[in-house]
Amino acid sequence: MQFFLDSAHVEEIVYALDAFQIDGVTTNPRHIQASGKPFLTVIKEIAKLVEGTDKTVSVEVNPHFRTYEEMLPEAEKLAAISPNFVIKLQCIEPAFKTMDALARKGIRVNCTLVFSAMQALQAMRSGAYYVSPFIGWKETNGEEVSGFLSDMMTIRDNYGFQSQIIVAAVRNARQIVDAAVLGADIVTAGLAVYQDGFQHPYTQDGIQKFSQFWDQTPYE
Ligand code: E4P
Repeated sequence: MQFFLDSAHVEEIVYALDAFQIDGVTTNPRHIQASGKPFLTVIKEIAKLVEGTDKTVSVEVNPHFRTYEEMLPEAEKLAAISPNFVIKLQCIEPAFKTMDALARKGIRVNCTLVFSAMQALQAMRSGAYYVSPFIGWKETNGEEVSGFLSDMMTIRDNYGFQSQIIVAAVRNARQIVDAAVLGADIVTAGLAVYQDGFQHPYTQDGIQKFSQFWDQTPYE
């Protein structure tokens, strides 16, 4: 399973690339705003961090753009900035024609804000490179997610679609592990979600206990 970092904080991305070898980055307008930098400035900085690798960076088209005529040129402009960029398009009907046109030009699309298997099916039919179901939002809304994710994967495999599924809006380690048990391709989460998941109170207890025994024992 690939781990992507859901962030536009350059320092966090640098840290996660080094500390636990993240496989890619996803950004969204909230992350870009939180970075405190202009959109183009920060996405170019992130592109530099993964230059020369096959790690992808998902960058989102202006969410006000809701027609094919608006989305297509903006997606092409962003894709020309870095070969690592995958262009995020919101899962709305005009985006399907846009992602189909982009796929034909070899530009990869991440279909974002996906909340139903039907949306995912059409995104896959339109050639989306990634499909991003937002499972945290669904759980907050009281909806189940494991059947949703496994339906998406079954549909993908039934028809041999090439799209990879990024389990997104992940809030805790249990969601990551559940997605891994289902066999999801990729998960994207914030730095704190990964770091919380890497630790366990018993690990800390054990370190303390074993350190005390170590200190009471001669080395030679
Ligand atoms: C995924 O690509 C999105 O950026 C992300 O997971 C959105 O979730 P959040 O902003 O609610 O964390």
